Amino acid sequence: MGEQLPQIDPQTCSGCGLCATACPSGVLTLIDGRIQVQESGCIGCGHCGSVCPTGAATAPAGDGWAEHYDVIESRGAVLAPGEFPAGPLVDLLRSRRSCRCFTEKPVSGAMLEDLLRAAVTAPSGTNSQAWTFTALTSRAAVLGLGQAVAGFFARLNKLAANTLLRRAYTFIGRPELENYYREHFASVAAALVDWERDRTDRLFHGATAVVIVGSRPGGSCPAEDALLATGNMLLTAHCLGLGTCLIGYAVEAMRHDRRVKEAAGVPSGEAVHAVVALGWPDVTFLRPTSRRRPLVRYKTA
Ligand SMILES: Cc1cc2nc3c(=O)[nH]c(=O)nc-3n(C[C@H](O)[C@H](O)[C@H](O)COP(=O)(O)O)c2cc1C
Repeated sequence: MGEQLPQIDPQTCSGCGLCATACPSGVLTLIDGRIQVQESGCIGCGHCGSVCPTGAATAPAGDGWAEHYDVIESRGAVLAPGEFPAGPLVDLLRSRRSCRCFTEKPVSGAMLEDLLRAAVTAPSGTNSQAWTFTALTSRAAVLGLGQAVAGFFARLNKLAANTLLRRAYTFIGRPELENYYREHFASVAAALVDWERDRTDRLFHGATAVVIVGSRPGGSCPAEDALLATGNMLLTAHCLGLGTCLIGYAVEAMRHDRRVKEAAGVPSGEAVHAVVALGWPDVTFLRPTSRRRPLVRYKTA
């Protein structure tokens, strides 16, 4: 399929040039009161259509999937800067907490799909939207991935238990195994014992769904895009009453072992950036927590 271009309706175009000013790729130019459309270079961001006062500019559009929410009641309103109060937003940001205790109630497919719609409202480098989402929608599917991740960490712990191997890697400038041994070996070993004994799930914390956020090749900033989309998903999930927890251990396992990716149904050509455990929370957070003051620099001149 060829590149889609914005359409300008000459009947309704007032020649104000706002679309040309808004276009980040210089595809639209105002010449003698008329908008000229270049044949290539459009990134499909839709700014032209969004700013046109008369509706004459129509941006390349998707199939409508992203605009029609099933569970969330969206009015499709555009909130001007300053229109949404920052106070409730900050309350929302502070209320999202990692959930490590879930009920057995499944998350509906409609709700998962709405979370993905909210996810893809995120910005992406050159609007590439190269993110992918693999949703595990049942506890059985989550347990299947858990088994594959457990296999990876059992193999890793076997390697890390070898002192000579750790020293050899450190000697050649690869201290990762030594660092892993120091920081994670013991807790992973304990988690594996619990998993083998009675499937106590210290990895996904009993979540009934998991979303793996990845990217296809070709995005300009795939990791950043995927994590921004993930952030949207976490906050939207909180609004819907769901609990979430990022699972870095599963990301590591998928990055290092294609068998784990296969178990999750993620094609080998895709990169994995985040794994989100999801479900109905079985824990109530009564108070917000505090954050450390970050290192901040101000340069005034
Ligand atoms: C990249 C990343 C990886 C994480 N991996 C895990 C994980 O594997 N298991 C887990 O229980 N929590 C994990 N977390 C959750 C953090 O521990 C949690 O965000 C942090 O303690 C702050 O708590 P809060 O999310 O409740 O504010 C991860 C968070 C991030 C950002």
